[in-house]
Amino acid sequence: MTDCRICGSPIAPFMTFGQMPVANGFLLPEQFDSEYFFELAPAFCSACNILQIIDQPDPSKMFHENYAFFSRTSKYMQDHFAKFAAKVCGSHLTDYDDPFVVELGSNDGIMLQNFADAGIRHLGIEPSENVAEIARGHGVNTISDFFDEMVADRLIAEHGLADVVLSANVMCHIPNLNSVASGIAKLLKPSGVLIFEDPYLGDIIKKTSYDQIYDEHVFVFSATSVANAFAPHGLKLVNVEPQKTHGGSMRYTLALDTRQQTSTAVTNCLARETKLGLSSAATFERFRENCETSRHRLTRLLGKFRDENRRVVGYGATSKSTTVMNYCSIGPDHIEFVSDTTPAKQGKFTPGTHIPVKPYQDFISDYPEYAVLFAWNHKLEIIAKEDAFRQSGGQWIEFIPSVCIS
Ligand code: SAH
Ligand code: TYD
Repeated sequence: MTDCRICGSPIAPFMTFGQMPVANGFLLPEQFDSEYFFELAPAFCSACNILQIIDQPDPSKMFHENYAFFSRTSKYMQDHFAKFAAKVCGSHLTDYDDPFVVELGSNDGIMLQNFADAGIRHLGIEPSENVAEIARGHGVNTISDFFDEMVADRLIAEHGLADVVLSANVMCHIPNLNSVASGIAKLLKPSGVLIFEDPYLGDIIKKTSYDQIYDEHVFVFSATSVANAFAPHGLKLVNVEPQKTHGGSMRYTLALDTRQQTSTAVTNCLARETKLGLSSAATFERFRENCETSRHRLTRLLGKFRDENRRVVGYGATSKSTTVMNYCSIGPDHIEFVSDTTPAKQGKFTPGTHIPVKPYQDFISDYPEYAVLFAWNHKLEIIAKEDAFRQSGGQWIEFIPSVCIS
């Protein structure tokens, strides 16, 4: 038993994925012996309805000057954030003379660049110095820090209050969410809004996309848990908008002005979550069973291909794949290498399982028989550009929502 990070109620894990390394901790052979592991075990708080992992490595072990995730690697995500920014400008900034937009976890500036290019006052808060530096190179104002209430106080003194606070795939990373929420409540103007999106619990349960659970994702949100977590800080959930990104996400809009009306989308979503049992222990028990079935099927398939000496590679050295490979004990005897377009990952080895990560060129220069689609959330973008792989006779191995060859 331990305490819920949000409301302090006692919680216990409903399953364990076993010992896990840092998901983005791609490493060199000389670092194998000192690799850090922790137990990845999710728990559900029945008091405030939030899913969280019990142990999380210290944030400084995950977010630093060698952070391996660069947001701009997906063209689809670049378009997504351009549309997100345009929507924010159209819906929330039109009434202000000199609007100020703050983004938490702005990474390489993929979203804020749209505001910078439009001449809108903006600031990114990004603790991973290497990606922050790339953002600055694109003209995006960025400070390197972990956002919390203290940082909010500093920002207010130095820059004044914000009209909009944004984040994407970041809020679910931050363990001290109460401090973050109270910092945002201070930082916003009375008319201000917080808009953030993250992978959605409803999709994860439906698709058994258990690989969304890894060290960085300390929380998995639903509309119910977001409403419960932010209300004590004076932030009211006023809108929700489902997103296709990252295998199914939800965008949440929260207002400081609690007189703002709740949209029917919120009311419907909360009702749907109750109906789907997103707050019921039985749902998580079923999820555990589905994870075990998925593991069994993937392990059996890759074991068969290994025994038949088939050439199998991985496509996309994602953070998510660290959970899959370690939970399913997939190693270099199953997968020859993982292809990835991120230079910082190439030449290194996958966390925990030590499979080489190679440049994309290695994939296209000698197509394998099978490629495991680890970056399944980018499936449309990837399948569209990898027609030649299929033409060569190559086949995809997918495991979300279920294990299949396509
Ligand atoms: N928004 C980007 C990046 C998501 S990755 C996108 O959607 O592609 C998560 C980012 O959150 C990382 O760049 C990490 O450095 C940053 N981060 C982690 N903890 C943070 C905190 N406390 N405050 C602000 N950013 C944080
Ligand atoms: P992503 O699934 O976006 O995130 P996470 O690490 O949070 O699970 O990571 C996609 C990875 O796949 C990233 O390392 C870049 C790589 N990638 C390719 O190699 N080729 C591609 O066409 C795409 C879209 C991604």
